[in-house]
Amino acid sequence: MIRIANRIVAEVLLTLKETIKQGITTLDLDIIAEEMIVKAGGKPAFKGYRKYPATLCVSLNNEVVHGIPSKERILQRGDIVSMDVGVIYNNYVGDAALSTFVEGSSDPLANKLMEITEKSLYDGIKECLSRARLQNISSAIQATAENAGFSVVRNFVGHGVGRYLHEPPAIPNYGKRGQGPMLMPGMVLAIEPMINAGTHEVDVLSDGWTAVTKDGSLSAHFEHSVVVTENEPEILSII
Ligand code: MF3
Ligand code: CO
Repeated sequence: MIRIANRIVAEVLLTLKETIKQGITTLDLDIIAEEMIVKAGGKPAFKGYRKYPATLCVSLNNEVVHGIPSKERILQRGDIVSMDVGVIYNNYVGDAALSTFVEGSSDPLANKLMEITEKSLYDGIKECLSRARLQNISSAIQATAENAGFSVVRNFVGHGVGRYLHEPPAIPNYGKRGQGPMLMPGMVLAIEPMINAGTHEVDVLSDGWTAVTKDGSLSAHFEHSVVVTENEPEILSII
């Protein structure tokens, strides 16, 4: 069931990525996502979670995570669009996110931030090995981000996922190799680096949700739900 929930998540994210273009609104994306999820026999996992009002989180540019879709937010060429989606299927949960540009970007810093943030996710996933320590994931993500001159958001973390959207363990995107709980086959982890071009500090806007970088710098976010096995980690939120 976690596999199916995550397959729906992956299909939604792929469709949204293909749909993004200048002039559409973040609410347009939310409507497409909800329709797809319901058609697939699922339910949005974020809607109603701690009173969150929408299916998607859509965060632009200096917004880190938890942007609320709105008909007033119109995508512009070159924007970073971070989209996060959760699906409940037969009471099991899938969760993933990706960032993409609206019709590409010519900003070298923004391009590097996107590449490094996605790479940091995959470097973390490589550490999802049976009997390894959780913070091996954290430390791999942190090294990739900081060696590129970027900073790791502290205020939000990855998490176990499956029966609920947020389960133990918390998965910080910074930490020390060799520390934390031992990973075991069957554990499903939502790993989600949020990386800023400037300071790691964030503010939350007066809507109670939207997290933005304190210095106005750009931010990117990539997330996969991954299952630990006796062998290589398996990414579930991929088609
Ligand atoms: N992927 C995010 C998370 O796992 C999105 C949660 S948004 C919320 O925390 F509205 F559900 F909180
Ligand atoms: Co998550």
